[in-house]
Amino acid sequence: MKKILVTGGTGFIGSHTVVELQNKGYEVVIADNLSNSSENVIDNIFKITGKKPAFGKVDVAEKDQFFKFLSQHSGIESIIHFAASKAVGESVQQPLKYYRNNINGMINVLEAMKEFNIPNLVFSSSCTVYGQPEKLPVTEQSPIQPALSPYGNTKQINEEIIHDFLSVNQGLHCIALRYFNPVGAHPSSLIGELPLGVPANLVPFITQTAAGIRECLSVFGNDYNTPDGTPIRDYIDIIDLANAHIAAINRMEENKQKSSLEFFNIGTGRGLSVLELIKTFEEATGVKLNYKIVGRRAGDIEKVWADTSYANKELGWKAVVPLKETLLNAWKWQQKLADN
Ligand code: WQD
Repeated sequence: MKKILVTGGTGFIGSHTVVELQNKGYEVVIADNLSNSSENVIDNIFKITGKKPAFGKVDVAEKDQFFKFLSQHSGIESIIHFAASKAVGESVQQPLKYYRNNINGMINVLEAMKEFNIPNLVFSSSCTVYGQPEKLPVTEQSPIQPALSPYGNTKQINEEIIHDFLSVNQGLHCIALRYFNPVGAHPSSLIGELPLGVPANLVPFITQTAAGIRECLSVFGNDYNTPDGTPIRDYIDIIDLANAHIAAINRMEENKQKSSLEFFNIGTGRGLSVLELIKTFEEATGVKLNYKIVGRRAGDIEKVWADTSYANKELGWKAVVPLKETLLNAWKWQQKLADN
């Protein structure tokens, strides 16, 4: 059975990817420092798949403890690297935390590939590297623009670090997946998005408002140059996103890569405004949402959605979960949280 290391494997995207890896017959090892998640996610993964992934409470940004952990887990063939700080707003307030954690973690993962003979890496990147694209939908050839936040900058810097490292380390491979907006939860409602404190992202704020935890959703601006004035994004179901990682692993295992470093846009190809998403949530759940229009949020771009034709063709992967199902899963997960 092929063994995969998932750093950040108890997080939102990581945990759903672990489930899909186990469903596809992989043996999974998780390294996570639990700074933005909890260990009971492991129990819930076990409840879903009947398999308990090996787990180590490890800070990937701390080389000694990370390498000590890896020396206890031989035979790893690929790494999927999620472990990173990811809150855009927090990164503006605490840039050094983000540069230290996200860059050191990346460097340690790359060094580990060499030290422990792990040939394949899937890197968790982001559409944020494109900034506000001039042309839409955005392709993998769209220009990289100056980052709007230290968080976004760490994604750009890490892509460059990977490029420079692979240029002088033959035989190692990486696929960087540039995510659009991950949303939803596992249909079992056993795992999902667990924002700490007040959610920054739209969908968890919607579900907490629908659950009465938040009084009212603030829609950040309706004076953008879009059909209804609210910003447009490409919201991708978390299970579809998880499966894109499997497709990337398969591509490297089958030596189908055209170069040692490849980039793929992982979205649905569908742009949706904030008001359209709210309407879809209400239709999917039957819950009327309390919201108000307020001023724009600093740093927000106006509109972005993916051209996914390259990923569809080369990865043989496509987003398939209907948006209403995604939002209903998010709502069911929120209600499960309320019951606990
Ligand atoms: C989506 C839209 C907001 C909250 C960021 C990162 C990206 C990834 C996902 C980490 C925007 C609007 C939101 C609210 C609102 N992060 N909104 N009221 O900013 O597109 O992407 O999160 O991997 O890298 O850049 O996602 O969900 O915060 O916002 O009106 O209470 O919803 O203005 O238009 P975003 P988001």
